[in-house]
Parts: sequence; structure tokens; C-alpha cells
Amino acid sequence: MKEKLATLSFSDGSPSVDFPVLGGTIGPEVIDVRSLYGKTGKFTYDPGFMSTASCRSNITYIDGDQGILLYRGFPIEQLAEKCDFLEVAYLILNGELPNKEQKLEFDGIVTRHSMVHEQLSRFYSGFRRDAHPMAVMCGVVGALSAFYHDSINIYDERSRDISAFRLIAKLPTITAMTYKYNMGQPFMYPKNKLSYTDNFLYMMFGTPCEEYVPNPVISRAIDRILILHADHEQNASTSTVRLAGSTGANPFACISAGIASLWGPAHGGANEAVLKMLDEIGDIKNIPAFIKRVKEKDGHAMLMGFGHRVYKNYDPRAKLIQKTCHEVLEELDMKDNKLIKLAMELERIALSDDYFIKRKLYPNVDFYSGIVYKALGIPVSMYTAIFALARTVGWIAQWKELIADPEQKIGRPRQLFTGATPRDFVPIGKRK
Ligand code: CMC
Repeated sequence: MKEKLATLSFSDGSPSVDFPVLGGTIGPEVIDVRSLYGKTGKFTYDPGFMSTASCRSNITYIDGDQGILLYRGFPIEQLAEKCDFLEVAYLILNGELPNKEQKLEFDGIVTRHSMVHEQLSRFYSGFRRDAHPMAVMCGVVGALSAFYHDSINIYDERSRDISAFRLIAKLPTITAMTYKYNMGQPFMYPKNKLSYTDNFLYMMFGTPCEEYVPNPVISRAIDRILILHADHEQNASTSTVRLAGSTGANPFACISAGIASLWGPAHGGANEAVLKMLDEIGDIKNIPAFIKRVKEKDGHAMLMGFGHRVYKNYDPRAKLIQKTCHEVLEELDMKDNKLIKLAMELERIALSDDYFIKRKLYPNVDFYSGIVYKALGIPVSMYTAIFALARTVGWIAQWKELIADPEQKIGRPRQLFTGATPRDFVPIGKRK
């Protein structure tokens, strides 16, 4: 088939140049501009990557206009309904759903990697008790590379697999330890007889004093939330992981970089910000005044948990979390919860307001997840840490894809320089 080309022409009479147009399996075609600088001496300018594909990937696909999210081709709705988190993790990592034997083997390997090096627990005492969990997570996950040297040869496939297992298995332990440290409670060792999510809940809420029996409705809800957060193609934190990975940094360091990037309120930190916003609004009667402030961009006020760079339609994850949220509140007999009523009314008002309609701002994944965590009694500052736990699967799969990609190069953007032109040094005594 004839190669499709895009022609770039200039108004100043410079010669036109052609670039190949590449097609994926679905989604927009891309113009391959790698040769642009060589051919024209010019760069592209795209702060925020509004129109830039940074890599080829076959893991996750989003159609933001239709509100579609696929992991390895499977709709998120089907995976959230029919799979458990480790099944989805296997899919994201390996490209196919596991058969029964593969699932059993995968679950077994992850389970047997869930304990952390005993010395790692001493790291925690270096932090203040009131340290933000994400600060602790960045430090402790980054420190894993100091404990697991034997799996950081990134050019060895087996090492990469072992690091992936270690990260996926140890993140629930590290997250729960972060919570326990905040609470001043003893760390709970993982229990291998429990499922991934039950084990996480056990390490979070269990104590050595009494038996902890996970509630299946709550366990299923958290498992589903983990599935919904597992990957989301080239978002800010995943791109951070890829950029760090492109330098040859070890996977533990790369995931720690991803955690730092996730922390921001425009990204994973939004779930925490939603709860703070709902607290600040306080009552349904205060919603109109809050919406007015948002629309006037008063003091950078934003409707947290709304809007998305890619989704210009309802985030499919938000729909599923909303359903899960109702199930949890029903189970906990909290149907009349003030917070959920406030959130739903806020959503209703926003979705019928011209400001949000015109800008195609819909609830995103973070709008309802915080309410589920809140109902479970998880402190607000832990919300983004749980997001990080789930997203670790996506990060490590994307990192593995990057390392195996023959087109991979160190990530090194260029710039449009707007600073001073060359000038001579002035000795301090002669400066104005
Ligand atoms: N509340 C009020 N106005 C908003 C919001 C919001 N949540 N989001 C976007 N806008 C406005 C924005 O001010 C701009 O208005 P104008 O055209 O008048 O300048 C317009 O909508 C377009 O927004 P943008 O900032 O150009 O969009 P973006 O793609 O750069 O940003 C976003 C996307 C997610 C960072 C942003 O919508 C946002 O900050 N939302 C709130 C934080 C949030 O919920 N983040 C979680 C995202 S989903 C989970 C995740 O990625 O971790």
C-alpha cells in the first residue's frame, strides 16, 4: 500500500516537507515528525502534549469522545464486572486474560512476594507520624531499589518480571504500612491465604488484638476500584515513569517517580481534593455559591473530580465507581449519607450548567472514589496512595513495554527559548 504522507508548507517560501502518517489499530492517526528538525531546523511546540503521541503502545485505549476505555481491547465495564484485580493485572502485563492454571500461578507468585524486607519497616520511623502518605510512599518505594538489587538489571527479561511481581505484590503491604504508621498501630504482615484485596484490607484494618474478617461487599468494591485505576495510557504519572525509564533508571526508582507525579491535585491527588471540596461546601444550600466561584475562577476554585484531558464525555470509570459507591453505602447502611447527597446534587447542578456543558466537563474517576474510601473510614490523605497501589500495575506494564521497544530513546524534549541572548559577564562591583 502507498505510504500516506502529510505535507508541511511554509508561508515564507521555504520548501515543503513530507512526513509519514502512521495508523494504529484504532484511534487517530499520527504524523511522524521525528525527522522534522533534521529536515527544517524547526521543532514542534506542544506544551502539555495536547497533540503529541509520545510512544507506540498496545496496552490501553481511550476514546475520550465516546467515553470508552479498553485494557488490551476489553471494555472496562466487562473487566470490572467479571474479573478480579489480579486477573486484570495479568491481562495488562501479558496482553491476554489468564486461563485457570495461569491465574493460579500468577496469584501464587504475587502472594509469595507480598512481604517486604524486614529492614524496610525501619524506614518508616524516619518519617514524622503525620507525614503525608504520598511523601512516605515516594520514599519507601524508591528505597526498594536499595533492597532488591538482584532484580534491577533492566536488560534482563527475567529481572524485569521479578521487579514487576515485587512491585505489584509489595505495594499493598507498603500502602497499608504507611496507614498503620500514620495511625500509630503495629504493622500487619501479609497473610497468604487471603486474596490480594482481602489481604490489603486485612493489613489496613486488622490488628494483632482481634481477628479481622473482610466484608465481601467492601472487598469487591475495593477490588473494582483497583481495576478501574489500573492503567490509563499515557497520563502524567505514566509518562513520568516512561521518561524516568528512558534513562535506564531502575523500575523501583521509576515507579517512585510515578508516585510523585500522581500526587498532584490535577491528577491522582484529585480524589483527596474532592473530599476537601465537599467538606468546604458543607451543605447542599452552599452549592450555587461554590459553582459561581468556580465559574468566575475565583481564587483558582475548580470543581475537583470534574474534567479530563482526554474524556470529553462521562468518564466510564466514574459511572462504575458511582454504582460501587451506592453498593457500599447500602451495605454499610449509609444510604442517607450527607456527603453522597451533596456529591450527587453537585454533579446534577454541574451537568446542567452551561459553563460545564460548553467545556465538556464531566465527572471523572476521582469524583466518587473518595466517598467510598470515606465510608470505609479511610483517612482522606490515604486516597491517592490507594490510587498509586492500583496504578503500579499500569506503570510497570508501560515501563516493560518501553524497555522492550526497539524505537525507545531517552526522552529529551526541546524548547522554544525566550530568555536572554548572549551577553558579557559583568563583575559584581560594576552591576547596577
Ligand atoms: N472545574 C472548573 N473548570 C474546569 C475544570 C474543573 N474541574 N476542568 C477544566 N476546567 C475549565 C478550564 O478552566 C478551562 O476553562 P477556559 O476554557 O475558560 O480556560 C477549560 O475547562 C478547559 O480546561 P483545561 O484546563 O484546558 O483542560 P486540561 O485538559 O488541561 O485539564 C484536568 C484537565 C483534569 C487537569 C482539569 O480538568 C482539572 O484540573 N480537573 C480537576 C482535577 C481533577 O479532577 N483531576 C483528575 C483527573 S482524572 C484522574 C487522573 O488523571 O488522575
